[in-house]
This record gives sequence, C-alpha cells and structure tokens, in this order.
Amino acid sequence: MLEVRLLGANRMTNVSISLSDRVFVLTGAGISAESGLPTFRASDGLWAGHNVEEICTPEALRRNPALVWDFYSKRRADNQKANPNPAHIALAELEAQIPDRFFLCTQNVDDLHERAGSVNLVHMHGELAKSRCERECGRPPVEDHTVYKNLDEVGRCPCGGRLRPHIVFFGEIPLEMDRIQEEISRATLMLVIGTSGSVYPAAGFVHWARQGRARTVYIGPDQPLNGAAFTQIVLGKAGEVMPGLFQVESRAEHLTT
Ligand code: APR
Repeated sequence: MLEVRLLGANRMTNVSISLSDRVFVLTGAGISAESGLPTFRASDGLWAGHNVEEICTPEALRRNPALVWDFYSKRRADNQKANPNPAHIALAELEAQIPDRFFLCTQNVDDLHERAGSVNLVHMHGELAKSRCERECGRPPVEDHTVYKNLDEVGRCPCGGRLRPHIVFFGEIPLEMDRIQEEISRATLMLVIGTSGSVYPAAGFVHWARQGRARTVYIGPDQPLNGAAFTQIVLGKAGEVMPGLFQVESRAEHLTT
C-alpha cells in the first residue's frame, strides 16, 4: 500500500532500516539541486536551454565537437563551484553506519557524492571530471578537470584521438549495469532520490526491486513518473527532509527487543 507523507518542519515520518536490511540507493539531478546545479527537465533546467540531439548524442559529438565540449566545460565549471548539501551528507553518514549493507548508484555526473564522503558508489551515466578517447581505443578514462575555452585546447589520447567527455550520451549503454543489477537483486530496501523517472534503464530499477520484494521509497518534491511503483513517498526537498530521516536499528537495540 503506497504511503505518501508530506514532510515539513514538524517531521512526520522516517525510514526504518533494520539490521537485516540491505540498502540500494539511486540518485538523480534533484539531489544536487540545492547545491545550485540545475536539473534537466525543470522549466529552467539544462534541457530547457539546449537541444539534446545537438549536445548529448554520439552523432552530436561527430557533427559539432566544439558545441559539445562547450556545454560540458561549462558544466565542469559549475560543478567546481558547487558543494555537497545536507542530502549528500545524509547518504554518506548512512553509508558509514552500514558500510557492508549499502550501495549507491547515481545518474549524476557531478562529484558531490564523493566530496560528501560516499565510497561504495557508481556513476552509471559517467563523470564530468573524466575524459576518454573519442576513438574508443580501449584506454581507460583519465581524470580531467579542465574547463576548455575552445576545441583546440582539448587534450589528445596517446593514440592521437581527441578526448571526449566521459559521459553516457543518449543511445549509449550505461556503465556498470551488471554490478547494478546484482546489487538490486540483493537489496531489501531501495531509496530513490531526486529523479523524474523518465529515463531508462534507471527508471526501471524500482520495478526490479519490487520483483525482489524490496521496500521502495521515493524522496523528492514531486511525484515521479514511476510513482506508483513505490511503497512509500516522502515529498519534500532532499536537503530538507533527509537529515534525520533514516532510523537505523543498532545491534544493541536488536538485543533488547
Ligand atoms: N530534492 C529532491 N528532488 C528534487 C529537488 C530537490 N531539492 N529539486 C528537484 N527535484 C526533483 C524533481 O522533482 C525531478 O523529478 O528532481 C527530479 C529531476 O528530474 P530530471 O531533471 O528529469 O533529472 P534526472 O531524473 O536525474 O534525469 C535522468 O536524464 O538527461 C538525462 O542523463 C541525464 O542522468 C540524467 C537522466
């Protein structure tokens, strides 16, 4: 039965995590909104001002690499000015409490989770602070924080190929899917934070978790498109509702009950 709770100052709910729970977390652009990074589909979002086909597809990179690099360089600059917010910190603190029963999968390409202290995480859509060879010569991605002013400045791979952003473009295969699927199959609780539920395969994760009989909790100010698949929805801004939201059972508590 879906439980929807609107969270304000007078906290009305929490999410209980028992000793036997294994937690899978999925985050989207919404968790970084309070850090000043725009989401994608809001009226003032990234896609409001840009045409996805011209920016975020392999064809766009072939057709106009300067435009693609200008877009991602600007995002790198914004990311470097941003800082983790209380929602990122709440997740890092939860992981520290249950390090061997916690896995974080983010759709975000910013590094705010790492800067908040998260450790066991994957970026299924790539990372802003990395680049790789556009010829896909097989060399691993390299760390690259450079905010390029023009295409001539963009670095080269040892094979001679120009570097491209290490971002999963539309039409490309997300990263780490085998590990993600494995972690979902072991989860008893899935937390989904700040994603509209409009992009697959991430929007389908909650259905996989339900098939495994996991509890599924959504946290964000709006109902996501896949809202019906959640057993609990906590409506509110992540940075406001997540501090103190998780009630983690301690071993001592377990022994006394
Ligand atoms: N706290 C929590 N959630 C928030 C907040 C907030 N402060 N502010 C906005 N949100 C929610 C919105 O309600 C919206 O549902 O964040 C969600 C952002 O949705 P999108 O902009 O669609 O971003 P996301 O779901 O992460 O996009 C998925 O699409 O464009 C591609 O690859 C890109 O990873 C991205 C993917």
